[in-house]
Amino acid sequence: KGKSKVCWVCSSCGESFGQWWGFCQSCGSSGTLTEFTQSDDASNKKTGFVVSEKAVRSWLPQQPGEMSPQRLTDVKKGVNQLKWRIPLSGLFGAEVARVLGGGLVPGSMVLVGGDPGVGKSTLLLQIAAMLAERHDFAPPAPVLYVSGEESIEQIGNRADRMRIGTEELFLYSSTDIEDILEKVQKLCPRALIVDSIQTVYLKGVTGSPGGLPQVKECTTALLCFAKRTNIPILVIGHVTKTGDIAGPRVLEHIVDVVLYLEGEKHTTHRLLRSVKNRFGSTDELGVFEMSQSGLQAVPNPSEIFLSDQLSDSEVLAGLAVAVIMDGSRTFLIEIQALCLSGSLVARQFNGVQSSRADMIISVLMKQAGLKLQDNAIFLNVVSGVKLTETAGDLAVAVAICSSFLEFPIPNNIAFIGEIGLGGELRLVPRIEKRVHAAAKLGYKKCVVPKSAEKPLAALELDGMSILGCRNMKEVINTVF
Ligand code: TYD
Ligand code: MG
Repeated sequence: KGKSKVCWVCSSCGESFGQWWGFCQSCGSSGTLTEFTQSDDASNKKTGFVVSEKAVRSWLPQQPGEMSPQRLTDVKKGVNQLKWRIPLSGLFGAEVARVLGGGLVPGSMVLVGGDPGVGKSTLLLQIAAMLAERHDFAPPAPVLYVSGEESIEQIGNRADRMRIGTEELFLYSSTDIEDILEKVQKLCPRALIVDSIQTVYLKGVTGSPGGLPQVKECTTALLCFAKRTNIPILVIGHVTKTGDIAGPRVLEHIVDVVLYLEGEKHTTHRLLRSVKNRFGSTDELGVFEMSQSGLQAVPNPSEIFLSDQLSDSEVLAGLAVAVIMDGSRTFLIEIQALCLSGSLVARQFNGVQSSRADMIISVLMKQAGLKLQDNAIFLNVVSGVKLTETAGDLAVAVAICSSFLEFPIPNNIAFIGEIGLGGELRLVPRIEKRVHAAAKLGYKKCVVPKSAEKPLAALELDGMSILGCRNMKEVINTVF
C-alpha cells in the first residue's frame, strides 16, 4: 500500500502505458508520452476495488486494475496497438522485420531455433544492438541480452569482433529466471533476449535446466512476463540432433513466433525461416551471409544458389536452371542430372522429392519417348537446397533430357513449369515474378507453359525472350 508506480501518459489522447514507447500505441502520435508517478491508492480508487493477486508470483509485475470481459466494440479501439510494431532499421533490420511479419510486436515472445553453431547467438546479439540504437522516431533505449551459456566477457569479445559498440546494450549472465526478470523490471528495456531456454531454470520446478518441465515452465513464465509488461522477449532454443523432446519443438505452441535459423556449416549462407507467426505470414524467408563481422543481409538473393557462371563452351550436359519461390522471394537454382546407360539401374535423388522425380521420369519415357528404362539416373540440386515446388518440374525434366541426349543446355535459359501426367506443361503461381527474376539476372530465354506466353511476352523483360511450350515434346524440339 502506498507504493508508487511509474507509468507513461500520452499528452495527446490521455492513454497510459506501463513503459515508454516512441509512438503512442493508442493514437499514434509520436513523442507525446511523458512519465508520471501514480500511487497504488489512486489506481485502486479508479477501478473501485483491489484485486487479490497473491496467486501471481512476486517477480511478475502487477497488472493495474482488474481484468474482466470486454465488449468487442470496445476492444476494437486497441486495434492500433496490435498493428504497431517496433521498427527495425537498416538492411539487416529489414530482413529480420520481414520474417517477423513487419517488425517486432510489443509483448510478443519469439523463439529462435537452430542447430548448435549455426549462428543464433550472433543473430540475436545483432538484433539486440539494433533495437537498442537510435531510430528515426525514438532515442536509444536499453536492451538486455541475458546469456546462460557465456560469460559477459565472452559476449563482449564477440560484440567487439562484430564491431558492436552500442551504449544501451546491457549484458547479463544468469540462469535463474526470477533473478533475470527482477533485473529486467529494474532496467525496463525495450526488449529482452534470453540465450538459451535450455540453460535457464525456475526455482520450485522439478528437473534440471533443459529438461522438459523446466523448459516449459520457464517459457510460460517468460510469456506471462512479456504479456504483462509489453516487453518483447526473444529466446534461443537449440534443436538437438538426438531428437531431445526438450528441444524447441515442444515450445512452439506456447510462444507467438517461431523462427528457425538454417544453414549448412561449411557454407556462409544462413536462412531465417518463420514456421509459426501469430502476427504475420509464415512463408517469409530472410537470407543472410555469415561474415567476419557477423550476419549480413543478402538483399538480392536470387543467384546465391547458382554455381559460378560457366562460359558457353564449358557448359556440361545435364544442368538446367529453375526459378523457385520461397516466401515472397525468387531464387534461381541449378538442377543436375546424370543418366548412365549400361550400368546398374539405380535412382538416387538429392534435393528432389523421389515420388515427384519418379513421376517426371515416367512421363519422359511415356509421353516424350525417351528410352530411360535401362539407365541409372541421379538427380541433384546444387548447394543443398530442397526443391519443394512443382514449378521446378520442367527444369528437372530438361536436366534429365540434357544428360540423356548428351546435349548441354546453353547457360542463359531458365525453365519454369509444372509437368502433368500427360506430359503437358502447367501454369504455376506468380510466374510473372519468376520471369522478372530470371530477366534481371541476364537470362536470355525462359521456357514457360504455352498459356503464359502471351501475357508474359507483353512485359518489359530486359531483352529476354519467352518461349511457350504445350508439352515435353515441344520443349525437347525447342531446346535440343
Ligand atoms: P554462434 O552465434 O555462437 O552459434 P549458436 O549460438 O547458434 O551456437 O555462432 C557460431 C559460428 O559463427 C561460430 O562457429 C563462428 C561463426 N561466426 C562468424 O563466422 N562470424 C562472426 O562474426 C561470429 C560472431 C561468429
Ligand atoms: Mg550460442
